[in-house]
Amino acid sequence: MSVSVDLKKGPAFCLRTRHTCYTMHVEQGKFLLHDAYVPSRKGVAEAKQPPYRSFSPYRTDAGPELSADIVLSEFPAFGSGDFRGDAVRVRNPEGNETTCFLYRGYRVLDGKPQGEGLPCARPLPGCRTLVLTLRDEHTGVEADLFYTAYEDTDVLIRSVRLRNTGKEAVRIENLKSLSLDLYPAGNWDVLDLYGAHCAERMTERLPLGHARVVMASSRGASSHFMNPFFVLCDRRATEDRGLVYAFNLIYSGNFENTVEQDQNGVVRVRSGLHPDHFSWLLEPGQSFRAPEAVLTCSREGLGRMSRNMHAFVRRAVLRPCPTDRHPVVLNTWEGTFFDVSSAVVREYAADASRLGFDMLVMDDGWFGKRVNDRAGLGDWTPNPGRFPEGLPEFVRAVKADGIRFGIWIEPEMVNPDSDLYRAHPDWVIASPGYMRSESRNQLVLDFTNPAVVQNLKEQFEKTFRDVPLDYIKWDFNRHLSEVGSSCLPPERQGETAHRYMLGVYGLYDWFARTYPGVMIENCSGGGGRYDLGMMAYSSQIWTSDNTEPSDRVFIQYGSSLGYPAEVMSCHVSNHGGAIEKERNREFMFAVATQGVLGYEFSLKNVSMEAKEAIAGQIRRYRTFAHLVEEGDLYRLSDPHATGRSVFYYAGQGQKEILFTYLQPAPLAGRETRYRIHRALPGKTYTDLFTGKKYTGAELREGIRVRPDPDSFSFLQMYLRAEEE
Ligand code: DGJ
Repeated sequence: MSVSVDLKKGPAFCLRTRHTCYTMHVEQGKFLLHDAYVPSRKGVAEAKQPPYRSFSPYRTDAGPELSADIVLSEFPAFGSGDFRGDAVRVRNPEGNETTCFLYRGYRVLDGKPQGEGLPCARPLPGCRTLVLTLRDEHTGVEADLFYTAYEDTDVLIRSVRLRNTGKEAVRIENLKSLSLDLYPAGNWDVLDLYGAHCAERMTERLPLGHARVVMASSRGASSHFMNPFFVLCDRRATEDRGLVYAFNLIYSGNFENTVEQDQNGVVRVRSGLHPDHFSWLLEPGQSFRAPEAVLTCSREGLGRMSRNMHAFVRRAVLRPCPTDRHPVVLNTWEGTFFDVSSAVVREYAADASRLGFDMLVMDDGWFGKRVNDRAGLGDWTPNPGRFPEGLPEFVRAVKADGIRFGIWIEPEMVNPDSDLYRAHPDWVIASPGYMRSESRNQLVLDFTNPAVVQNLKEQFEKTFRDVPLDYIKWDFNRHLSEVGSSCLPPERQGETAHRYMLGVYGLYDWFARTYPGVMIENCSGGGGRYDLGMMAYSSQIWTSDNTEPSDRVFIQYGSSLGYPAEVMSCHVSNHGGAIEKERNREFMFAVATQGVLGYEFSLKNVSMEAKEAIAGQIRRYRTFAHLVEEGDLYRLSDPHATGRSVFYYAGQGQKEILFTYLQPAPLAGRETRYRIHRALPGKTYTDLFTGKKYTGAELREGIRVRPDPDSFSFLQMYLRAEEE
């Protein structure tokens, strides 16, 4: 990656990746302006600032052309004449929010600073970080803006830290990790991933007008309802062509992403912490670090943008899977719900092992008085009635069947009916004088309180001592209301939501360090924390509680826009005995192999024929799992627009291709050609499922598929080029 500094031009700064260029410069020695962020390594010949307009205030030491309301600003501050959305707002000792940061200097660091309690992108070899320092002279607060470029994936990471070098305390009322002004004017669309429980990451692409678009969550979690990933693209951009910018945040709590267009057509994009439930007291000598924001841009449409994000997340964010391949799991939840016990789970394990599963995951119901969702959360000791031999011996017995073992936990929650709550009723998120709302009969533990986190560490340490665990499924099943903490003073109550996340990350970090060989699957009532913060600690995420394949096609399509397939945990289920019908079974399999394959039902009443078919599916999946986990994704059809999700994964230098066509509902119409344009023209490929041969040229011409008047139609081809 290259960081260059031209001292003659103000100075001017330039960050380059293989296909992108990000430039900014300092005007009059003090105003840090953005120039351009473009998908070309060369950058733009001459970046233009927009023209002055009446009613835009300007500093008398700068003149109208440098009006804060007009310029492309790198770090727009609140209250000093820029009426667009701000990146920073500090309440000064006088109590007003006028904020003004002027440039002070720069540094270039080898590598990349990590954390301060937050998940961060890992530095890759050779990476360097540009740090620009600005200062608000009145308060003495300094801002360090961090920029790291990831050369091969065309990704930039931005972040900011505020340091109070003044003599009096101030209050941070808003701090965005990224603010990006794009100019000249264009016709833009904003694409977001909205959703609901069981319908996560639906796509929505709307034209950008002049009203501010806000994509946010103030639920204490990134949430099912709006994902932190979003796209700004040219209105004509398609899967393969057109200008696309994409953004994400390495954070799992409250966030606010906005896009707005000003009077000159300048588009301002911001991403960072949500100002709701956020007000941070910064005493002299203290600093505050914001989460990292991720950005990429491309002129090659949504497809290239996704591949940039996928490669970056795989290399620099995702906790590597402790085993060579992600395991094929059998999970107990949809089969038995809370009725787990030694006898039940050992039966599961014996069946699963015979069919070739890698892992048996015992879901909710194994601890405390947890026989339904009304009790037990917070008491992490095995239920002695259900596991009379104790957890270590039970797990050893399961593993004696030749299968690995995983277990479900939900550390952040407590049921009022639990020993933990009875002993510590003040250990929950609450506001004195207000009723504590419940959701799924549970309250949220106050993770801002170190004693709470310590208690959980001790409980898990004791319970899992001598237990040969391979996998943990970490769930989170409600959001934060009546946000307040009994361990913070009144003037720091506004820090509760972010400190809660820091406590959660602290416990995740402890788990990852204490159990390095244990894989973590993240879950939040399905995919309610499907974000880069969680991915830094987990190797995969339960995509959705909705396992209906016809819905999954849409959920998985949206997930694929910003996140790689290897993180997407996908289970075949058995609603209404679907596993017994070959067409359903094979369709569910084809859908689930868009990501990491697993199954979720009891094998007890499944016929021999279906069991053998499942064993065959697992064997088949293993032959191409490397393409799902490491291949490059090419989407050929958007299911929202066409009723079909069609895509392929290409790997091994395009010598291997896994093509999948999924049509959940009946369709009429003419044959469509799906071009596998990455196939090598001079090669002959064999479909390893059928033995049929195709030349690379034929594949590039397209695979013809006629719409099926029946539902659950699919085609899957595993194409391998013959060696010369
Ligand atoms: C919600 C999860 O998404 C499910 O998979 C399951 O683990 C339940 N919680 C258990 O309570």
